[in-house]
Amino acid sequence: QREGDMRGLKVMVTAAGTREPIDPVRFVGNRSSGKMGYSIARQALLRGADVTLITGPSALTPPPYAKVVRVETTKQMLDACLAVYPETDIVIKAAAVADFKPRSVADQKIKKIHPEDGMTIVMDQNPDILKTLGGMKKQQFLVGFAAETQNLLENAASKVKKKNLDMIVANDVSLKGAGFNTDTNIVKFLYPDGTVEALEILSKDEVASILLDRVMAKRKR
Ligand code: C5P
Repeated sequence: QREGDMRGLKVMVTAAGTREPIDPVRFVGNRSSGKMGYSIARQALLRGADVTLITGPSALTPPPYAKVVRVETTKQMLDACLAVYPETDIVIKAAAVADFKPRSVADQKIKKIHPEDGMTIVMDQNPDILKTLGGMKKQQFLVGFAAETQNLLENAASKVKKKNLDMIVANDVSLKGAGFNTDTNIVKFLYPDGTVEALEILSKDEVASILLDRVMAKRKR
């Protein structure tokens, strides 16, 4: 472990899932627990980094000394990211961002209708936060995540290009011991030059620590 090797670096980590309201009591969300992002924030803090953790709703306690920004919707996460991005050295986007949001939010709780009737929610696309940050990139080292259920490497590699990333962490969320709400993860690291590193099953803290080793090594070049 490289103790203190991230001293002086400003790291932004996003974690957990965003939620989009349907009415005052309901939302569209996803199964992200925030465990991977909170582990990355904790490991970066242990190495001396200055960490801003931008998090959707999560049951976890943020690591001590992180600057925590709590958000709910994708738009709120985007705004929080844009506010700290110019001063950031390393961005790690572990959040599961809601890609769609209901076109309109009802003012009052939506009532049940006739039992035989269905109900339709029209959704619009949310902005892609990471792609936005990739398009504005200056000194920042940008790391994305790709949670896939099929064609893992192809999909992850195309995201590195489309979002102008320096690295992506790909995981097949359909594997046992990987993905949402587990304490372990099985990931592959991909880089813009096409190289791939596959890790064995590890705790999320161990994945976070190796991820930061790679970020520090790549940044130096
Ligand atoms: O395209 P996909 O959602 O699979 O990309 C995953 C990566 O992009 C993650 O790092 C996630 O945090 C980020 N993302 C984002 N804004 C979105 C969708 C995904 O920042 N609207």
